Amino acid sequence: MGTHPAMDHAKTPPRSASGFGDGLDQPTLSGAAALGHVVRPNAIDVSHGTILYLEDVTVSFGGFRALNKLSLTVDAGELRCVIGPNGAGKTTMMDVITGKTSPDAGKVYLGQSIDLTRLNEPQIAQTGIGRKFQKPTVFEQHPVWENLELAMKADKRWWASLRARLDRAAQARIEHTLEVIRLESEARRLAGELSHGQKQRLEIGMLLMQQPALLLLDEPAAGMTDDETMELAVLLNRLRGTCSMMVVEHDMEFVAALAGETGRVTVMAEGRVLAEGSLDHVKRDEAVIESYLGR
Ligand SMILES: Nc1ncnc2c1ncn2[C@@H]1O[C@H](COP(=O)(O)OP(=O)(O)OP(=O)(O)O)[C@@H](O)[C@H]1O
Ligand SMILES: [Mg+2]
Repeated sequence: MGTHPAMDHAKTPPRSASGFGDGLDQPTLSGAAALGHVVRPNAIDVSHGTILYLEDVTVSFGGFRALNKLSLTVDAGELRCVIGPNGAGKTTMMDVITGKTSPDAGKVYLGQSIDLTRLNEPQIAQTGIGRKFQKPTVFEQHPVWENLELAMKADKRWWASLRARLDRAAQARIEHTLEVIRLESEARRLAGELSHGQKQRLEIGMLLMQQPALLLLDEPAAGMTDDETMELAVLLNRLRGTCSMMVVEHDMEFVAALAGETGRVTVMAEGRVLAEGSLDHVKRDEAVIESYLGR
């Protein structure tokens, strides 16, 4: 955490100095963001190992602080699970990261140099942050394959290179994504005919078509059967290395499947981080037991 330029309160450098970019127009390409991705005009600088950096982020609704000096960082390539009681501010945090909600105070950075508080929602989406909401939003009247195709075309960078036709590289990407989300055999079916779990996987596939650097998933397992939940855990585990992820979830078995023994889990409560560490570690934390897990 000590290497992020945004940490330097005392002498905030001028925008062009020491890695402090000015939003979208300072391209830097390095580290994991460069791997397996098309070269983005606004590539993310993860040279210090951090993909997401939040410091003292505060959001007030009236007099109520939904986020109260929330600070956390996510490493490039990490799959971070975030848990915590209802109303802890987990969704609000994702709203801040994606630009849906502006923080009253605090720093929100993507990599070293992209100050997300200076960008609006569409600009943030263009930086490579994908967000999965709880309810699947797929084009029900279109086949699975077309859903992926439409998602890819929504990405302007690809649209330009596609020149409005589905070339072989694009087809290969759709096929690869179908394999990742395990919907190869459903490719020609209408999305509306899929089960809830399959729709959720399709929506993740649609996000993947845009090659996100950071994927935010808010309760992706909600409403799923146990089998669907475990299949989703397998899918997200397979995405490791493709993109960084932040997963908010209440289902502890799902969290355990994602975090394993060593993955970092963040526990939020009352708008801030209550505890952080391995699942085993946070489960034994007195404050966590008190406010969330119970005895
Ligand atoms: N637009 C808003 N206006 C007023 N209060 C809000 C708004 N959005 C969220 N809140 C409040 O902020 C607090 C945090 O809500 P948030 O949805 O972020 O919690 P959460 O951790 O995602 O909870 P859950 O696990 O139930 O999804 C809640 O008390 C909520 O009522
Ligand atoms: Mg929520």
